[in-house]
Amino acid sequence: MNKLLTYLIAFIAIFCVSCTSEKPRYIIGVSQCSQDIWRDKLNSELKMGTYFQDDVELRFASADDSDEKQIEQIRQFVNDGIDLLIVAPNQATTISPVIDEVYDKGIPVIVFDRKTNSEKFTAIIGADNHEMGRLMGEYIATRLNGKGRVLEIKGLKGSSPAIERHEGFLEAIEAYPGITLVASLQGDWTEQSAIDAIKAYQGDLSQIDFVFGQNDRMAVGASKALPASNSTKYCGIDALPGEGNGIACVRDSILEASYIYPTRGDEVLKLAVDILEGKPYSKENPLMAALVTKDNANVLMMQYEEMMRLGTHLEQLHDRADEYLHQLSNQRIITMMAIILVTMLLILMIVIYRYFLQKARITDERNKMEREQLDFFTKVSHELRTPLTLIEGPLAQLGETKEIKDAGAEVSGLFAIVSRNTHQLTELINKMLDAQVQNDLQKVALEQDDTHLTKGDETIDKLDTEPKALDSSHSDQLPTVLIVDDNADIRAYLRNILQQDYQINEASDGQQGLALANEIVPDLIVSDVMMPVMNGLEFCQRVKSNLATSHIPVILLTARALSQHQIEGYESGADAYITKPFSSDLLLARISNLLKSRQLLKSVFGTGNGEKNAKTEQQPLTEKEDIFLTKFREFIEKNLSDSDLGVETIGAELGLSRVQLYRKIKALTGLSPVELLRTARLQKGRQLLERTDKTISEVAYEVGFTAPSYFTKCFKDEFGISPSDL
Ligand code: FRU
Repeated sequence: MNKLLTYLIAFIAIFCVSCTSEKPRYIIGVSQCSQDIWRDKLNSELKMGTYFQDDVELRFASADDSDEKQIEQIRQFVNDGIDLLIVAPNQATTISPVIDEVYDKGIPVIVFDRKTNSEKFTAIIGADNHEMGRLMGEYIATRLNGKGRVLEIKGLKGSSPAIERHEGFLEAIEAYPGITLVASLQGDWTEQSAIDAIKAYQGDLSQIDFVFGQNDRMAVGASKALPASNSTKYCGIDALPGEGNGIACVRDSILEASYIYPTRGDEVLKLAVDILEGKPYSKENPLMAALVTKDNANVLMMQYEEMMRLGTHLEQLHDRADEYLHQLSNQRIITMMAIILVTMLLILMIVIYRYFLQKARITDERNKMEREQLDFFTKVSHELRTPLTLIEGPLAQLGETKEIKDAGAEVSGLFAIVSRNTHQLTELINKMLDAQVQNDLQKVALEQDDTHLTKGDETIDKLDTEPKALDSSHSDQLPTVLIVDDNADIRAYLRNILQQDYQINEASDGQQGLALANEIVPDLIVSDVMMPVMNGLEFCQRVKSNLATSHIPVILLTARALSQHQIEGYESGADAYITKPFSSDLLLARISNLLKSRQLLKSVFGTGNGEKNAKTEQQPLTEKEDIFLTKFREFIEKNLSDSDLGVETIGAELGLSRVQLYRKIKALTGLSPVELLRTARLQKGRQLLERTDKTISEVAYEVGFTAPSYFTKCFKDEFGISPSDL
């Protein structure tokens, strides 16, 4: 997962870098010797040329007619890392070495407009300056009909166009002996240089018929410097479009003629890209030139304006396309970022999900381990507490016997050692199993479900012996206690403790216990929890849900000492919960208390015959028993006059056997159903005697007595007075 995250972060970093710094395919440096409209036009054509080439960046520099500056600028281009150099050298000799340097570094060089002194360049592009000078010479000679005075203003000294144009010009006029070249003054391509040169000239400049400025600007300068004369004509080179430039000057008759010195930036850029892309190209690339006179100046101006319009459109279109491309690339970045973000979120969610899954698994495993530990301790505790109960209890009883009390010092001493150590062992085990385990595991116990707690019961099964009902020779007056435990020793021990005061019945598991409880309906049940076949919790639950036995108090006696175990016990309906090892006195007290609190109900039933025991804690009648008793009473009241009404009929009505009805009614009220029936009959009889004029015999029959004399006898027994007294 960590690896995945690292890859993802690396990918994002690369993506971001690639988004922010898009390196162009080619960087081309354009080194201009000077800055003027001719070069501005060229530069903008170059720029427009990039619209048709993918990913080409142009970097411009202008040397302002300074050799040093141009050398420095070219070196800077190389340092910055250009892929190709386009250069118009200021002066041929001075700039050549630095161009050689560039070329030697393997950077392609395109020389345009002006030449170098060396052959170290990749290609050259431009018009033929010699030819242009020659053509202008021819033009002037023709216009002067081969006769007249001519003045030449030359361009920057040392620049190849100045040299070549001069040579071409000379070549042409030399053929006309009538033409006199008055002077060739030195300018530097600027208008001012022509003015300055003329002013500085010492010779005779009168009667000049034609001035040849090597460019239009210098021709215009000459026209300003020479004395105004209608006869002097001017011509130049460049024929730039736009107001104030060459073509307009010809149109306006300031110049007689000019020669288009083509810029063709688009061609220059195409040549550059062809070289960079390794396409075939020519080393020499001459550009076509054309003469501009008054005849074509207007047309050329119009054409130029149209071109400008188209150029502006093109630029607008380009800007728009650029904008769209920019938007597109932004959208691409946003989409990519969104994808990355969603991916990261997904990964994050997976990581979090897996974390929680793992945490839950660990918690599950820990809970399972703790549960197993708890089970183990519960079992161990059961194993230890049961025999301890069987040592501690009998030992206490032994201590009370005459034999031990009267025994000599030696036996008493030994007995004391045994007693003390048994007690110590009990304490120790209690500490170990209760305090420690309870503290550690209580929280787990609370989480546990009911089911697993009963699971291990079978493994602790002890030798089972068939319990027998205690013989019925025992007095019927003693309350009946049913002992349910799978451990025969525990049963024997309990019997030993209880048999003085109670009639004992035994069962070895919940199922047997349930059958016996239904049959004999004991007054109280003492049951173990962990037993085979049916555990004590289920047993207790079923005792409490069965009408015949629901009133019987149940004491759970068990080694399961944790409070959670006790809660489960009470939830199953138990009335008391005593943990092993237990004190026999505590058990006896608890049994007695529970039975006494039941006896209180007898008086509550209000028959007048039950004894009250104000000292015993009052046990409220459960809803179940309340309903049962109400039903019982209502049925009797309804059928009072029926002299055949007996326990059988009432039991059948309430869904209980004769024995069950007897035991339940006896347990709840302290009286037998027959006694209750008789009491009800007598009370009704008394009412009738007091409130009606009926005779004793009539009343006796009405409340179900078959003989009036028996009614009278019973009446006396019940109320202490004779019916005739009423
Ligand atoms: C522009 C310019 C033109 C001339 C050319 C010669 O810088 O002076 O006027 O024709 O250069 O290189």
